[in-house]
Amino acid sequence: MIIAVDGPAASGKGTIARALAKHFGLPHMDTGLLYRAVALNLWRWGGDPASEFEALRACDMLNIDPGDEELRSEPVSRIASSISAYPAVRAALLERQQQFAGQPGGAVLDGRDIGTVVAPQADVKLFVTASLEVRAQRRTRELEARGMPAHFDDVLADIRARDERDSARDTAPLRPADDAILLDTSGLDAEGAVAEAVRRSEEQLRNG
Ligand code: CDP
Repeated sequence: MIIAVDGPAASGKGTIARALAKHFGLPHMDTGLLYRAVALNLWRWGGDPASEFEALRACDMLNIDPGDEELRSEPVSRIASSISAYPAVRAALLERQQQFAGQPGGAVLDGRDIGTVVAPQADVKLFVTASLEVRAQRRTRELEARGMPAHFDDVLADIRARDERDSARDTAPLRPADDAILLDTSGLDAEGAVAEAVRRSEEQLRNG
C-alpha cells in the first residue's frame, strides 16, 4: 500500500503523512529532507546554487541526519527550493524515493511530486493545501518553537516565492495528480486535519 501526500510549504502535509504512517503501520519518508540535505551539502562546500552541475555533485554521499537543525534553516530552505528545480538533481534523487515507495508492505511519502512522478501508482493520493496566511502563521510558530525567531511578513514572502518557484518549474511542478483527494486544512488544527486525512484515506481504500 502506497500513500502519497503532496502539497505546498507548511500546508500540514508532514504532520498528516507521519500520522497516516502510524495509523496504517507503514514506514514514512519526508522527501523534502532529501532536497534539504543536498542544499546543506552544497552550502557547506560553498558550492554555487546557480550551477546545476555543482548542485548535482552535492547529491553524492547524501548523509541525512533528520535531527540536524541546519536542514531547516533559512538559507538551506532557500537553496533547497532553487536546486529542486534542476532536472539532474530530481533524477538523482528519484531512485531512492522509488525504492522506498516500492518496499514490501508499502510506505507513506510526502513531498511535491509523489502522486504525479515518484509513485503515480499510489493507492491513496492526498493533496494538502491551506491559505497562504495560515501557512505563514504555522511556519512562523514552528520556527519560533525551534528557537529560530521569525517575522510573519518575511515568512509569508518566502513561502509565496517558494510556491511560485515550485509551481512554475518545468520538471515535476507542484500540482495535484488528477486522481488526488484535495484536503484544505485552513480551518483545521493538526488533530482535525489528521482525522480528516485518515477518514478520506480509508474511504479511498474501501472504494478502490
Ligand atoms: O514544507 P516545506 O516546503 O518547508 O519544505 P520541504 O517539504 O522540506 O521541501 C523543501 C524544498 O524541497 C521545497 O521548497 C521544494 O521546492 C523541494 N521539494 C521538491 O521539489 N520535491 C519534493 N518531493 C519535496 C521537496
